[in-house]
Amino acid sequence: MDLAFADQGPGPVVVLLHGFPLSRAMWQEQLSGIGSTYRVIAPDLRGHGESPVPEGVYTMDAMADDVAELLETLEISGPVVIGGLSMGGYVALSLMARYPTRVRALMLMDTRAGADTPEAAQGREATAKAVLAADSALSVVDAMLPRLFCKMTLEQRPERVEPMKAVMEKMSPQGIAGALRGMAVRPDRRGELPKIAVPTLVLVGEDDVIAPPTEAKAMAAAIPHARLEVVPQGGHLAPYENPSVANAAILRFLKSLEH
Ligand code: MLT
Repeated sequence: MDLAFADQGPGPVVVLLHGFPLSRAMWQEQLSGIGSTYRVIAPDLRGHGESPVPEGVYTMDAMADDVAELLETLEISGPVVIGGLSMGGYVALSLMARYPTRVRALMLMDTRAGADTPEAAQGREATAKAVLAADSALSVVDAMLPRLFCKMTLEQRPERVEPMKAVMEKMSPQGIAGALRGMAVRPDRRGELPKIAVPTLVLVGEDDVIAPPTEAKAMAAAIPHARLEVVPQGGHLAPYENPSVANAAILRFLKSLEH
């Protein structure tokens, strides 16, 4: 899969994987804020942004394989830092499971390790069908937008909300359905957390209602070398909503890897 991607900066490689139904545009503040010190590679996952939109179910493993292929194309063979937000975090955990030697450290942001409940999986299938039938992303945009951001961002920072809304509106129904169906069949990885041997940053927005701090705390407690950072004035898109605090936490973590 020939993924579109941003590739910015010198230094050790940090891969950032966006959430659903977004694109690498959500990492703009990390590309500028972290990309001055590190080489930040941020792909558009399949079906998203400017990447190809194949047919079928986009499993987290297939998306992880796409990212591994991208790193190969870029001739990056050494272990790298893999960060992912929400769906990107599911993909990061899949990369950890499938390519452990390629992961230097993990950053799990506004995400979770558990699988969907049967009800959640059914809900995703219903949404996928509805989006395909309507041939429009708008119902997903309307349902997700208010849940992506904290109240302050939603009410006072339209300049943050509008660009993500525009990204979501451009998603193709096939891309939305592929990702929803892939997330619905993702495995429960909670049992794998104690075996994660690399340093891990678990970062979460204080007001994330999709993957709340309680889940982040449980995940951080289960991973042996994890540190937890809770970002104030941040919802599900904490690194995008409060980049100064999130970038400082990310840079602290990346710096700690040098010792
Ligand atoms: C995301 O932000 O990637 C999604 O909300 C994840 C999900 O629906 O589980």
